Amino acid sequence: MSSVVAIDGPACSGKGTLARKIAEHFQFIYLDTGMLYRIIAYLNKPLEELCNLSVFDVIKFSQKFNNNVLRSEENGIRASNLAKDPQIRELMLKMQRDFVNYHSKEFCVLDGRDIGTVVFPDAFCKLFITADLETRAKRRFQDLKKVNEHIKYNDIFADIKRRDEQDIKRDIAPLHYDNSYHLIDTTKQSIEEALGCCISVISSLL
Ligand code: DC
Repeated sequence: MSSVVAIDGPACSGKGTLARKIAEHFQFIYLDTGMLYRIIAYLNKPLEELCNLSVFDVIKFSQKFNNNVLRSEENGIRASNLAKDPQIRELMLKMQRDFVNYHSKEFCVLDGRDIGTVVFPDAFCKLFITADLETRAKRRFQDLKKVNEHIKYNDIFADIKRRDEQDIKRDIAPLHYDNSYHLIDTTKQSIEEALGCCISVISSLL
């Protein structure tokens, strides 16, 4: 069993915020795997060049690039498109495992779409964080409105719906969960309530 907390779930389910807060609470190492995909998508380099980068090189790019651009829905869709490519997924798989091997003496929290199904199927704890589409679109809209007042709710809703479909229906490592996961539905929960649920599940397994 690996010392990984695997957190999977659809876009804007709150999994990133929860993963960060879980890592803070337990003093675990955190890796946002969606950000790795977003950086690779934004870099737009040929595979041969990407293969020369280590996971730590990619993480360094996140400090160099504008966070709002990386986190935009536009770049999210680019990342989701790229994530269908089997060679890219293989490269990302290696990067994510290299990251955890590097921190082999510590616990790590990784959030994404396939962490508990493909990247670390032997994770000691697997959480699937979800919420209904409307709730997720509203949360995303509130966030993005702070940086772009022209943003439209209907566009955000459509983008997230499209990304969900793409992430769920792709051939390789699609987003899904099974009974090895603890399901946490945050539709009617505040982030503090959801965090409380996650902490009690993890504590019961440590
Ligand atoms: O978690 P996020 O919204 O930042 O992820 C952006 C995209 O990256 C997501 O729509 C699909 C892809 N992704 C993936 O395929 N596998 C992961 N483990 C993480 C992200």
